[in-house]
Amino acid sequence: MSDNQEQQDFWSAKAGEKWISNQREMDALLAPVLQLVLDHADLQAGETVLDIGCGAGTSTAQAAQLVGDTGHCKGLDIADTLLHHAKRELDRPNVAWLLADAQTHQFQSNTYDVMISRFGVMFFSDTVAAFANIRSTLKPQGRIVMAAWGPAPENPWFMLPAQAAKAQLGQMPKTDRSLPGPFAFENQGKVVEMLAEAGFSNIKTTNHALGLTAPNGLDSAAQLCCEIGSASAALQYFNGTAEDRQAIAARIAELFKPFETQVGLYIPASIHLFTAQAS
Ligand SMILES: C[S@@+](CC[C@H](N)C(=O)[O-])C[C@H]1O[C@@H](n2cnc3c(N)ncnc32)[C@H](O)[C@@H]1O
Repeated sequence: MSDNQEQQDFWSAKAGEKWISNQREMDALLAPVLQLVLDHADLQAGETVLDIGCGAGTSTAQAAQLVGDTGHCKGLDIADTLLHHAKRELDRPNVAWLLADAQTHQFQSNTYDVMISRFGVMFFSDTVAAFANIRSTLKPQGRIVMAAWGPAPENPWFMLPAQAAKAQLGQMPKTDRSLPGPFAFENQGKVVEMLAEAGFSNIKTTNHALGLTAPNGLDSAAQLCCEIGSASAALQYFNGTAEDRQAIAARIAELFKPFETQVGLYIPASIHLFTAQAS
């Protein structure tokens, strides 16, 4: 049994399937976050890249384009549904896929120039062990670039759907946001300490105010929130009905309305970026 069995079950089953069926919209929404990672990764032709928690593989595929035919990218994920989908959709000569737990997989040493991750590193039961394990496969000058959600209160993409779901269904049990989950890295200082403990050097972190652009507009974004994220979690927890879902989606649309602009729905987001070197 994996150390991260709960996450494996979560991402392999319902969450993975939902992510795949909404992949286009999710990728468009989160494109600025991937761009942030790729800008800071500064990938060069011929480099070898490991994409941790690659999910449906969009980041791996984009990194593969940047390193070109002489480079190589490996997308690693714990969820078979997502990884098999990535393999089916995005197979190309300079890409490989690995179904594994990044925390415990026995990597080959001295293999990768860069580890990248968009939102794939906040789910480890032992983050220091996972970082140390990832470091073991990097080349001596290898670097890591990873993006994680900043503080929950600064991220209306989570807060407003949670508020809409609470109004309809009631309060979800309080959880510790520092536990594995989307906000496990909201405390930048703690992540820096964990990276240092895992042996990384030259650790830097910055916060970025980005805009998530929902490609299909307000109502579609509200429906998407009932599939993935805090409203979806509440609907699942309370066994919400179709009526509950419709009421929550309508309320989310109202709450997102102030973010509508002439060029579409533009939801502010607070994103942390972490960079470091293997030695
Ligand atoms: C929020 S999704 C992000 C997916 C992708 N990086 C993206 O941005 O579209 C988090 C991903 O991390 C993966 N994950 C969680 N724990 C993991 C672990 N221990 N090892 C490898 N992948 C893991 C999940 O299966 C999921 O695909």
